[in-house]
Amino acid sequence: MDNKVLVAYASKYGSTQEIADAVAATLRDSGLAVDLQLMREVQILDGYNAVVLGAPLYMFRWHKDALRFLSQHRKILSGGLPAAIFAGGPITTGDEKEWQESCAQLDQELAKYPWFTPVAVEIVGGRFDPAKLRFPWNLLPALKQMPASDLRDWAAIRAWADNLAVQLQPALP
Ligand SMILES: Cc1cc2nc3c(=O)[nH]c(=O)nc-3n(C[C@H](O)[C@H](O)[C@H](O)COP(=O)(O)O)c2cc1C
Repeated sequence: MDNKVLVAYASKYGSTQEIADAVAATLRDSGLAVDLQLMREVQILDGYNAVVLGAPLYMFRWHKDALRFLSQHRKILSGGLPAAIFAGGPITTGDEKEWQESCAQLDQELAKYPWFTPVAVEIVGGRFDPAKLRFPWNLLPALKQMPASDLRDWAAIRAWADNLAVQLQPALP
């Protein structure tokens, strides 16, 4: 399994999965060999030359599968395997303040893993649909009354992945 990039993702409502699909497709278009997998199903990273981790923010935390992934694969991630990450994300106004808040939340989470030094970190817009909220979120009136939104900017996501392909080239045989 040489010259491979793994795109591993976590997603509760599917929006991050769709972003991971787009990132994987863009990296493939750049000529990279890419596997796409749910983070919680990844057993070993041996044989990969780089990883891209994508997971949403929920209640100021990065998705628990992403945090678990970092702990589980600490040895190889701190041993020089290049890793890039993206996290969704803003779902209300999409203004600078909301973006900065999501960014600060992710920074705070990553600060707990000082040994982890990703080559790229990106906050991406998220998607929200009050009609699809499940327990316990469907019990919160403040959330139920929020309008549906989709702040994913596909052009920006593809541009980020395009850049990443260039950035990862030196790591690939
Ligand atoms: C209950 C709930 C809490 C959320 N909390 C945050 C948060 O703390 N910070 C943030 O940036 N986005 C937050 N979001 C937005 C999600 O990250 C966004 O909806 C994302 O697209 C969800 O990804 P998924 O569809 O892959 O599960 C929250 C969304 C919901 C429904």
